[in-house]
Amino acid sequence: MNETTVNEPTTNDAVSPLPGMPRVRTCPFSPAPEYARLRENAPISQIAFPGGGSGWLVTRYEDVRAMLADPRFSSSLGMGAPHVRPVPAMLEKPRPGALLRLDEPEHTRYRRPVMRAFTVKRVQALRPRIQQIVDECLDAMERSGGPVDLVAELALPVTSLVICELLGVDYEDRDTFQGLAGQLLAIDASPEQTQAARLELGLFIAGLVAAKREQPGEDLLSTLIQEADADQDSPLTDEALTILGSLLLIAGHETTANMIALSTLTLLHHPGQFAALHHNPSLVQGAVDELLRYLTIIQFGLTRVATEDVTLGGRLICAGEYVIAALPSANRDPALGIDAPDRLDVTRDPAAHVAFGYGPHQCLGQQLARAELQITLTSLIQRFPTLRLAVPPEQVPYRDDMIIYGVHRLPVTW
Ligand code: HEM
Repeated sequence: MNETTVNEPTTNDAVSPLPGMPRVRTCPFSPAPEYARLRENAPISQIAFPGGGSGWLVTRYEDVRAMLADPRFSSSLGMGAPHVRPVPAMLEKPRPGALLRLDEPEHTRYRRPVMRAFTVKRVQALRPRIQQIVDECLDAMERSGGPVDLVAELALPVTSLVICELLGVDYEDRDTFQGLAGQLLAIDASPEQTQAARLELGLFIAGLVAAKREQPGEDLLSTLIQEADADQDSPLTDEALTILGSLLLIAGHETTANMIALSTLTLLHHPGQFAALHHNPSLVQGAVDELLRYLTIIQFGLTRVATEDVTLGGRLICAGEYVIAALPSANRDPALGIDAPDRLDVTRDPAAHVAFGYGPHQCLGQQLARAELQITLTSLIQRFPTLRLAVPPEQVPYRDDMIIYGVHRLPVTW
């Protein structure tokens, strides 16, 4: 949608009669209660953005799916998230390989070569190694005697090590890329800070691409470089490889790490469900999808822009207007086809949830995320059936300040 003009910000927060994005939770595991009211009374409603401007908030399951599958809603603003943090007045054009910001047919050209590494079959083959990594982390936890911070000792190491091995990134560099992820995802980061973090990450991955061209390994980045070098029609230039590599590294560890920690905490708050998983580990497949649905950590949803006038759920959205798919709300909509969607029930399998998005951009790493979550949660619960919080619940720092929800730290003992 590169030619479409995005409506210039016109309103100012202080004088706008419009409400902002619903953000105030009354329960740390559930989205703001305001969403239920909106789904009922104003399923597609206007909201004001913090840096000026406005957009449409889409809260019902059916409308969210229709919107995300509709090519007239462009992704070119991708992670801009103007509904929660100011974005630069002029967003740069989507760059090659920036999957989250590309529309068809460009998007598929870059997605296809990477997709092969994330199929069910390929992820199945990674399971033994993921199990080994999880077991090593749990061994270290056990040796320490506790208490430990589950984010630092389990969630982050498991997901970072897996994506490092898969991509061919040195795990020794984890402080660098984990720190950059924090800067990229913080809501209070200025556009300049986000841009600086993106540049630094780009330089880091560009160095890796150059090194792997000289000395290829068995990893995904080396494979993609070799495929690109062997095919002169390949879209995978060094710039595209760098951007793809950056995306996979950040998306590949930060999301799943937050799901591991937040799922653990949620289960500690629901001891009956923790016990059900302990007594019957075969529930884990459905349980992980139920946790993904219930917690929906992409807490501010997904941003698109209309490239032409579109009627969605009976509302006219004009060309150039922003539209936000409120994933946490859609996943609590009874239209999802499950009983009592505000209840966590690890014995069900809500396969049709939208925690991984929907449509052409649906999460490319979802099979890997599921495998990591299933293995980590099962092993943790079996090994530490007496797991409990090591601090009072009100001292757990939630990530209300980040694009991806979760906890900053999770002190636990057993
Ligand atoms: C619990 C973990 C995860 C959640 C909740 C999650 C969520 C999402 C969502 C909602 C999208 C859609 C974005 C959009 O439509 O604009 C997405 C896209 C994506 N995810 Fe994930 N993700 C997770 C794990 C992963 C992992 C482990 C990887 C990589 C190894 C990954 C790589 C990607 C990539 C590359 C895209 C862009 C796909 C495209 O635009 O075609 N994600 N993810």
